[in-house]
Amino acid sequence: MVVIKPFNVEQWMDTYETQCKYNIAETCCDSVSLTDLVSLAGNVETGAENPITSVLAKKRLDYGHIRGSPSLRTNIAKLYESSTLPVSQSQVLITPGAIAANFLVFYTLVHPCDHIICIHPTYQQLYTVPESLGAKVDLWKLKENDNWSADVTELQKLIKDNTKMIILNNPNNPTGATLPFSVLEGVKSLAEKNNITVLCDEVYAPVFHSSKAPPPPSFMSLGYKNTIVTGSLSKAYSLAGIRIGWIASHNEEIVEIIAAARDYNTISVSQLDDAVAAYALSPGVRENLVERNIKLCEANLEVLDAFVNKYAKSVGYVKPVSGTTAFVKFTRSDGEVVDDVRLCEMVMADAGVLFVPGGHCFGTYEGEFRGYVRIGYACGTAALKQGLEKVGEWIESGGIDKCS
Ligand SMILES: Cc1ncc(COP(=O)(O)O)c(C=O)c1O
Repeated sequence: MVVIKPFNVEQWMDTYETQCKYNIAETCCDSVSLTDLVSLAGNVETGAENPITSVLAKKRLDYGHIRGSPSLRTNIAKLYESSTLPVSQSQVLITPGAIAANFLVFYTLVHPCDHIICIHPTYQQLYTVPESLGAKVDLWKLKENDNWSADVTELQKLIKDNTKMIILNNPNNPTGATLPFSVLEGVKSLAEKNNITVLCDEVYAPVFHSSKAPPPPSFMSLGYKNTIVTGSLSKAYSLAGIRIGWIASHNEEIVEIIAAARDYNTISVSQLDDAVAAYALSPGVRENLVERNIKLCEANLEVLDAFVNKYAKSVGYVKPVSGTTAFVKFTRSDGEVVDDVRLCEMVMADAGVLFVPGGHCFGTYEGEFRGYVRIGYACGTAALKQGLEKVGEWIESGGIDKCS
């Protein structure tokens, strides 16, 4: 039997997401319907047949293309290609979401006795699965006092002779921070020198919305051969319901090894999902979808920021610049940080608002991230406003001081 720690964030969402009135814990940009998707494309005449539903209706529902349709894989390859670095569909594999993409990468490439370095805090899958496969995992800690950035000299000290993989998540869940170009370059040069594979989970790219600095490139664009990037339609593209993700790598040998393992657990993804994903990432649709989501995040972050400023005595954060989440710290009036699980349970019971407890879902030892809460602010603006208003009323009624 596999020995694996519970995936706390997923279990928390499973327990509470159907009970809450205001879900401001979700990490996807507000989801869209097929009708919304088509109207975002903006080129369909009123009354005309919906181009995507008519394609879906006529599809013959066999397995389809084993690795994913050529049109979908080509559209994904285009996300990473530049004039100096071509990327072709043969370097892309389609998976049921990024969660399956990450799992497959680990299942295929991580062995007992390997040493793995993973950025932290991050989505728990990225360090718990390698650990469950018998690898020794060291965490490369992001620094809250440096806008949740990372120090490459610390990474250098973590590298051992048997370091197999460095795992990044850019933009980051839960902090909403971005690893800048200089850090990515530093990781690349250490990985190259020590022959280490880099896995960069980029599910929140390209939702770069609030930094004055230019957005960092995908790790794929740095041109390091042993790079694997994972992504999906769930977060930045508002389409979690189609369960489409991917693995891309410059190293076709890596792609083939992963594809051979994938044969045992995927065959192919749903053809209907594949067709919707190919449409969403097609020219003329993708740009509009991304623009909608960047605007949504900008507007909603203003709402969140106003809330944090209003309650600054008890609520604080490093303002996120990318992605869809903020890591917010709650403090009692006596200066003690609160118990984050208790806080989330109380906010749920008293205000009907769903938050994610940061210590419980992202901490790796007793007390780490105590008092932190992950807020997912890329939901509909009205829901965010209403939810935060309810939390504000709860704070004003002395709620925080009741959390011990
Ligand atoms: C960093 C990260 N990677 C991967 C996933 C999985 O996303 P999906 O399987 O919906 O693509 C999530 C979901 O929250 C995430 O935050």
